[in-house]
Amino acid sequence: MSMRLAAAIFGATLIFTQGIPLRAQRAGSTVSIIPRPASLVPRAGRFTLTPRTVIWVDRGTATLGRQLAGYLDPATGFDLTVRTAGTPAGNRIVLRLDPALARLGDEGYLLDVRPGVVSIRAPKAAGVFYGMQSLRQLLPVEIFREAHVTGVNWTAPALRIEDSPRFAWRGMHLDVARHFMPKEFVKKFIDLLALHKMNIFHWHLTEDQGWRIAINKYPRLTQVGAWRKETVVGPNVRDSSQRVFDGKRHGGFYTQDDVREIVAYAKARFVNVVPEIEMPGHAQAAISAYPELGNTGTQIGVRTFWGVSEHILNPENKTVAFMQGVLGEVLTLFPSRFIHIGGDEAVKTQWKSSPRAQERIRELGLKDEHELQSWFIRQIDTYLTQQGRRLIGWDEILEGGLAPNATVMSWRGIEGGLAAARAGHDVVMAPNTAVYFDYYQSLDKATEPLAIGGFIPLDSVYAYEPVPAELEPQFVKHILGAQGQLWTEYMPNGKHVEYMAFPRVSALAEVLWTAKNARDFGEFRARLETHLRRLDVLDVNYRPVRP
Ligand code: ACM
Repeated sequence: MSMRLAAAIFGATLIFTQGIPLRAQRAGSTVSIIPRPASLVPRAGRFTLTPRTVIWVDRGTATLGRQLAGYLDPATGFDLTVRTAGTPAGNRIVLRLDPALARLGDEGYLLDVRPGVVSIRAPKAAGVFYGMQSLRQLLPVEIFREAHVTGVNWTAPALRIEDSPRFAWRGMHLDVARHFMPKEFVKKFIDLLALHKMNIFHWHLTEDQGWRIAINKYPRLTQVGAWRKETVVGPNVRDSSQRVFDGKRHGGFYTQDDVREIVAYAKARFVNVVPEIEMPGHAQAAISAYPELGNTGTQIGVRTFWGVSEHILNPENKTVAFMQGVLGEVLTLFPSRFIHIGGDEAVKTQWKSSPRAQERIRELGLKDEHELQSWFIRQIDTYLTQQGRRLIGWDEILEGGLAPNATVMSWRGIEGGLAAARAGHDVVMAPNTAVYFDYYQSLDKATEPLAIGGFIPLDSVYAYEPVPAELEPQFVKHILGAQGQLWTEYMPNGKHVEYMAFPRVSALAEVLWTAKNARDFGEFRARLETHLRRLDVLDVNYRPVRP
């Protein structure tokens, strides 16, 4: 039986076990795990965490054991012992890698809670980590406090959970270029992804409005490109005479040490960081730092308003080499197999009017500007493939012919995803019709903070199905999963990002983890009530859910 089928079957039984009163609930608690586990069978009684509870680990789970103690110690005030040697006995939590559970896959786990004993077993460390996340969500919500909470009974209902995800790519994107987000917020965001068993953080690092990652070989990218002199106020308007600016310098960037710190922080939470370096479009900040990368030879500034810049990298070999130089440093910082190179919204007006770009089209034997973009992306694809990595880009990379090893991120609806999957390429679904979390959460825009447009409420996120119905079965394997987008033109800080992200991320997490036929919005809403109290404790500025 395939994992997916197993999840579907176990999932179906779950409809009757979660969200309705369990025996355990008589003791005053409900099981409200998000995302919903594949299978959950209640048992009699409860497990009680005490100051004498011992976390028993083996060599493969020692780090996880310390991490679990770190999760549990602050709120309980217990200083839990983590022990490797000896035979587990007494009140205990046992963490074990168990190759016999290979059927659960790279991220699945088995969580068994009985009076006196919790056992988390998984074939891989990621699974043990996800079992720990479920255990945290079985305890009272106060467990998420970072200081001692008195008067709480630290108990969890006895049960058996067998769980594994539906999709391998369970992601969130964050644009830190339109507005710079400090390192502390990025870490908080990663923590929240891990809580939701999401495993990809797509870090959008470069834009027309700012370049946010230090590159030693090209210091001006951040000396110049990380700063804009001011920012437009209010909604984007095409008529430049109507734009009003705030007159405040805005910017910031991550040093390579910052990046290493964030990547390590994410790795410890089983989150892979996929960096995005935009090319050939969305490159105005880079061109303002190094005008020789552009087509006009003029000195421009970092863009101070929204919309898409027509400043695009020129198609010279030395510009491709420059971007490969950037990526060379990026690869030393990010172990991710996937490296995102943007590729979206590369406006072709400058290439159309530049005699040199037109000459390049002829020189390279290409048909038009779309093929010129594909030529550019192919040079990068070859480079990344030689380095043992995989290129991923927005769906425009299909337009002049797809690079041989490229993975496509489908954002303009699902068409790009369908075309790429049918051509045998892997796909990540990120459609602006379903998972753009910069869109409004209400039709009543007057009661919401200014957003870019659109309307994507919580229930439609929950109803999203990443595998398009029209995709032929033989290509379904190319849908790696999906991710939500947070473009930050109208999100000036982390609190605003939280408002737009949550609880839509909670809904998306369930779409990506839980079997399709085990999803039920009404039942999710019931669990979400408890989950929002967790987010309260974690100081997440989520949008209140209104009936
Ligand atoms: C995009 O929204 N331009 C990928």
